[in-house]
Amino acid sequence: MHWGPRLAPEQLAGLPLRSRSHGDVFGEELPGEGGERFGPPSLRVAFADGVRAVEWDYVDHTIDGGHLTVRLADRHYPLEVELHYRVYDDSDVIERWSALRHTGDADPIVVDIADSASWTLPARPDYRLSYVAGEWSAEFQLRRVPLVPGGETVLTSRRGITRHQSNPWLTVDSGDATEEHGETWTAALAWSGTWRIAALRTLGGHVTVSGGSGHDGAPRTLAPGARWETPVFAGLYAADGFGGASRRWHEHARRHVLPTPDEVRPVLYNSWEGTWFDVNEDNQREIAALAAEMGVELFVMDDGWFGGRTSERAGLGDWWPNPDRFPNGLTPLIQEVHKLGMRFGLWVEPEMVNPDSDLYRAHPDWVLHMPNRGRTEIRNQLVLDFGRSEVAEWAYGWLDRLLAEHEIDFIKWDMNRPFTETPPDAFTAHTEAVYSILDRLRAAHPQVRIESCASGGGRVDLGVLARTDQVWTSDNTDPVDRIHIQHGYSQVYPAQAMGAWASDPVNPLTRRLAPVRFRFHVAMAGALGISGSLHEWPAAERQEAAALVAQYKDIRHVVQHGALYRLTPPTVEGTTVVQYVSADRSEAVVLAWRPAVRHGQADPPVRLAGLDPSARYQDPSTGTTYDGAVLMAYGLEPAFPKGDYASTLIHLRTVP
Ligand code: DGJ
Repeated sequence: MHWGPRLAPEQLAGLPLRSRSHGDVFGEELPGEGGERFGPPSLRVAFADGVRAVEWDYVDHTIDGGHLTVRLADRHYPLEVELHYRVYDDSDVIERWSALRHTGDADPIVVDIADSASWTLPARPDYRLSYVAGEWSAEFQLRRVPLVPGGETVLTSRRGITRHQSNPWLTVDSGDATEEHGETWTAALAWSGTWRIAALRTLGGHVTVSGGSGHDGAPRTLAPGARWETPVFAGLYAADGFGGASRRWHEHARRHVLPTPDEVRPVLYNSWEGTWFDVNEDNQREIAALAAEMGVELFVMDDGWFGGRTSERAGLGDWWPNPDRFPNGLTPLIQEVHKLGMRFGLWVEPEMVNPDSDLYRAHPDWVLHMPNRGRTEIRNQLVLDFGRSEVAEWAYGWLDRLLAEHEIDFIKWDMNRPFTETPPDAFTAHTEAVYSILDRLRAAHPQVRIESCASGGGRVDLGVLARTDQVWTSDNTDPVDRIHIQHGYSQVYPAQAMGAWASDPVNPLTRRLAPVRFRFHVAMAGALGISGSLHEWPAAERQEAAALVAQYKDIRHVVQHGALYRLTPPTVEGTTVVQYVSADRSEAVVLAWRPAVRHGQADPPVRLAGLDPSARYQDPSTGTTYDGAVLMAYGLEPAFPKGDYASTLIHLRTVP
């Protein structure tokens, strides 16, 4: 009936049920096929006799705290659907999902589309769509475009994972929202496999957004007696602009999604951009010592430690330490890292196999494949079919043993290629198996923290965030590119889960040379990490990095747990400013990045937000104090060093 500003139940009771738009059935919670329904269906099934239309009867509903379940049954065929709604006292996000049940005992039902929910927006004069587009190493590029009148806009992944090219959420506003003003409606899907979100805008001015797991052309089978539950497709209405919506999503993730929201993420070092595939006990010990000196708290050894994995050509699947590189196993290195006062983390890619591996030679049938078709190799690897229980059990078995036999504190779970030659039912089964392995590993090894990675940010969504503590945002560690990637990421996902590395002076991907301060200041906007060839950094740079790490430890509780205000969103070459405010408003952190100096283009004062107007804030680095009201009304002039790649960090605390 209504998804917008809060109305009292008696006010809602007076609203018309908008069930038709120019004759067409419109505004249903999960529109199927049949009748005068011509929009994007949320449900498309085929019964054994070929009938595709559904006709529902109300069965019953239950309310359990904030959880409403409405049950409907088809008038004739053995299909029931449950519509689920969950609301929270401390969040404006409404979680919706559905479940299908085959109530018969004869033929299976083919399910082409089974979305989680369809959201209907109220009428507004115009509509604009915000979403993120991207690719490998350029994830989360925010785009705002008009929502096409009379058209359907589909965002989707057919790759088996969330994917880099877009991300399963969209925001609609009435075309006039800004960072801090205006109404927005956002829907985000908690799913890490293939997915599809379809937005319809009629000429008459109606918008619906239907979303769920699965993609076109990959029907699933609902067996007699089976019940299948869809992932959550959560919705949020906010009246305080894109920034207000983001802050609500971040808070929701902290309160109801992330498994360890109250922890602060440790500063990590990751070996990837330092030693690439050439890891061994000696070089890792050496780098670990340098990392510890810089204040690193978690040392993560990336790819190359196992089987015959000396390049991307071989070894995936053979999960034992490479005997040439680790002649005494991993324990000596782990002990050394612990002795240096750091936690130890390890890279794994459980869903994959290189054809050149003992695993593949023993089980060539374990990969996704189709009869009479080739097996497409990408990065020289094939995807293991986790939909087969023996394959998923094998993966759980070695991961569980690895964690039981070693004092490993952290795993980076990577996934580096899309699915091909995939039997349709395998898509959903695979993602469910990944979730189940992650859940079981967390239960069996509660001290282990997990990072989700898929060639950078290819598996970032609310589904994986419920099972992992942080994500690897992008393989692009160039600080300038990263400003844009982080901006898009932050629209829905929280800073505490955003893995961000400061890497080598000359970035390995873009070859851009940027000063250490700029590289760190950009990475300090999330869960700070470091990568690169530390032994090649000038000693003075390592010292400066150590001071920046110490400063990060001082501010990270505000960055990771505070409220984010994107004070000056990024433009191609202008200054970007973000601010974080602690929940009690006693602390604020401002990070400002100016990649390119432009003579005569002074940076105006930046007006801060979210402070206590009656409090006085002090910048302890200068001793200057400011009124909260003045900081918000007039602002603060960020003091940049001269030249390109200038950045500054201001940490304000209230003083009596
Ligand atoms: C892709 C990841 O995104 C990188 O960080 C790194 O772990 C490589 N895979 C290793 O193969």
